[in-house]
Amino acid sequence: MSWQYLAVAADAALRAGAIQKTRFGQELDIRHKGAIDLVTDVDKACEDAILAVIRARFGDHDIVTEETHLERTGARHVWYVDPLDGTVNFAHGYPFFSASVAVAVDGVAVAGAVFDPIKEELFTAERGSGAFLNGKRLRVSMARDLVRSLLVTGFPYDVHDDVEGKIRLFRRFMGVSRAIRRDGSAALDLCYLAAGRIDGFWEERLNAWDMAAGNLLVEEAGGRVSRHDGAPLELRHDEIVASNGALHEAMLGVLRAEREALAAEGRA
Ligand code: IPD
Ligand code: CA
Ligand code: CA
Repeated sequence: MSWQYLAVAADAALRAGAIQKTRFGQELDIRHKGAIDLVTDVDKACEDAILAVIRARFGDHDIVTEETHLERTGARHVWYVDPLDGTVNFAHGYPFFSASVAVAVDGVAVAGAVFDPIKEELFTAERGSGAFLNGKRLRVSMARDLVRSLLVTGFPYDVHDDVEGKIRLFRRFMGVSRAIRRDGSAALDLCYLAAGRIDGFWEERLNAWDMAAGNLLVEEAGGRVSRHDGAPLELRHDEIVASNGALHEAMLGVLRAEREALAAEGRA
């Protein structure tokens, strides 16, 4: 059955991506959800397209999607939808964004797809069957030393409430890695990790729709995902550290050092 889930996830992500590509660079209807948090008419159009694909095939499944609150019925199957991941990039004409669709059974993601319509890259994974980019098998990188690694992170929309906290952690990773990028689409960042284009990723506050597909990609490409203390990451958690596996303990060490420093300062 799960290949059918993957087919639906991929179809939905491709349809959303087609809308994104058509509308990229055109005038948008922009609404502010917060001071720096945007939603555009394209987010909504992509969501409608994705929901139509899922509902046509799996009408009894639950759906958790970013722009619309849908009541859960307690179904075992839950779809996690980020119709446009990287809305800020999209709204500014910065070509790095995606659509992310995943389905979980009993709380465990089993299939997922992330599509970047600009590069025409479709990332897919099915639990137990590997991770793929346009049908080609993916493997995480071989990097073994943080000092030779390329890391990626992201910041939540409430970053203005704790700029210093985000910078402290960024500074720690900066001091031990080759370089850090902040690309602006967590779903795509995780796919880049799966593809070996980057070696590690961390973020402090994400939603299940940002990560469900990307995390499956990372695991199926041989990488590791966890909470910041190394505990298993579930869909209800919001913090994430993801790596090629070889770098995981070193990344956890950096996060631990920051926690200990905060505790010593009486701030944790
Ligand atoms: C955001 C992006 C960004 C991450 C933010 C997310 P959105 O999602 O994934 O990279 O840093 O935390 O909220 O709002 O563009 O779907
Ligand atoms: Ca997102
Ligand atoms: Ca989004």
